[in-house]
Amino acid sequence: MNIMDFSKIDKEEYKKQLKYFYDYYGASFREGQGTEQILELINKYACNGTLIDFGSGSNIYFWLLAFNNIEEVLCVDISKEAFFLNEQIRKKELYPQSCEYAIKKYGKKFDDVLKTNVNYLICDVLHSSINSTIKYNNVSQFGLLGLCKSEEEYISNLEKLYNLLEKGGILLGANWCFSESYSRKMGFNNNYLSEKIIQNFEKKRNCKILTVKKVPIYNDTNYDSVLIYAIKYE
Ligand SMILES: C[S@@+](CC[C@H](N)C(=O)[O-])C[C@H]1O[C@@H](n2cnc3c(N)ncnc32)[C@H](O)[C@@H]1O
Repeated sequence: MNIMDFSKIDKEEYKKQLKYFYDYYGASFREGQGTEQILELINKYACNGTLIDFGSGSNIYFWLLAFNNIEEVLCVDISKEAFFLNEQIRKKELYPQSCEYAIKKYGKKFDDVLKTNVNYLICDVLHSSINSTIKYNNVSQFGLLGLCKSEEEYISNLEKLYNLLEKGGILLGANWCFSESYSRKMGFNNNYLSEKIIQNFEKKRNCKILTVKKVPIYNDTNYDSVLIYAIKYE
């Protein structure tokens, strides 16, 4: 049951989130951007049960098309406006066109996905601690940790997310590697993103990497590749 108060929405932030929606998942599905591989990662490695998705934005229903048997989702994001948009999708006021690809691929009905129990939590994930007493079968972040400005910040945040896993649970991640021009625009780069940082994380923790790879991205001025991985808490 969603009890978030959407009465005060910041117009500028809403416009920014709406632009993101129309630039990406609100548009038709574009092949060769690494999205096919992320959907496959979810479909192959996610387990049944609960899910907490960090930096969820307005895109949870798109990724949910690739999950199976998710009982409940907690979406965590800094932006209330992104959640407002997500609610517009749930209420069918907006439709993410790119879902057509995943609907076909996984034989799903969008209406069924919209029935998933979705809750919201507003939190500055990258700069606050997270209560880890409640554990989840699946923890995901698609596009959040790549906003960390250094490898150290990335790893400490990954650790925070990993600590929310139930034993046997799966952490799914996807982080877009900035192009040079996008790094200049953002004022920082995330060149530290590599398979190696995930492999080093495995060495330090009681976990197993199920897969880790960098997928190249074609014809996008902002991103060169996307680092994707699945980690199991054994
Ligand atoms: C690139 S978007 C990805 C959205 C979505 N996961 C997807 O796959 O399309 C990054 C998201 O992270 C959120 N975000 C940025 N900084 C954050 C922070 N410090 N804490 C929580 N969320 C944050 C943004 O509001 C945005 O929704």
